[in-house]
Amino acid sequence: MINFFRQFLKNPIQTGSLIPSSESFVKEIVKHIDFSKNKVIVEFGPGTGAVTSQILNSLNNRNTYFGIELNSELVFELNQKFPGKNFYNDTATTIDKYLRMHEEIKADVIISSIPLSLLNETEQREILECVVNNLSPNGEFVMYMYIISKIIKSGQRVEDLLDEYFPTTSRTKLIWNNFPPAYIYHCKKVI
Ligand SMILES: C[S@@+](CC[C@H](N)C(=O)[O-])C[C@H]1O[C@@H](n2cnc3c(N)ncnc32)[C@H](O)[C@@H]1O
Repeated sequence: MINFFRQFLKNPIQTGSLIPSSESFVKEIVKHIDFSKNKVIVEFGPGTGAVTSQILNSLNNRNTYFGIELNSELVFELNQKFPGKNFYNDTATTIDKYLRMHEEIKADVIISSIPLSLLNETEQREILECVVNNLSPNGEFVMYMYIISKIIKSGQRVEDLLDEYFPTTSRTKLIWNNFPPAYIYHCKKVI
């Protein structure tokens, strides 16, 4: 928690929040994913591992999992916390390189904590295009945005872009038991 706050002070836009997600919020994110049906699970921006620990608890031995995290200090922490799991210090848009490394072609589920609502349109499109291009035909994209995204222009744009890139997007009600409160988005490549 302290390290997360320190990372936020160093790079607020990249880190995107002051503290890790709450346990009940993370359970809500993972609840949307069918781990028996979907084999390849990729996490973008695992941070200090709040979402990661729920994902890892839900995996079965058929699943392939890896995380891509931009912050090298957080990757160090993730490797200590979850020994034997794969975390790559890179930007999410390099996912295809790591899929190939795991002898996979596409991801079935991508779960993202990247603070999309704080990015400009070019960066948002770059991430979403990369998600769509690297998901399997029935693939799913799960992400969340904080309450603030509703009132900032770049946050409002993310909802429009999700509709542009995915035929089906559902959004939960505002989930209050997280700081900050947030919405979870569940996007599918097929209707
Ligand atoms: C909100 S924090 C993660 C929070 C954590 N998953 C949790 O639930 O507590 C967002 C994380 O995304 C990472 N990040 C931001 N942009 C990224 C990118 N393009 N590729 C990979 N990771 C990125 C940041 O370094 C940060 O650790």
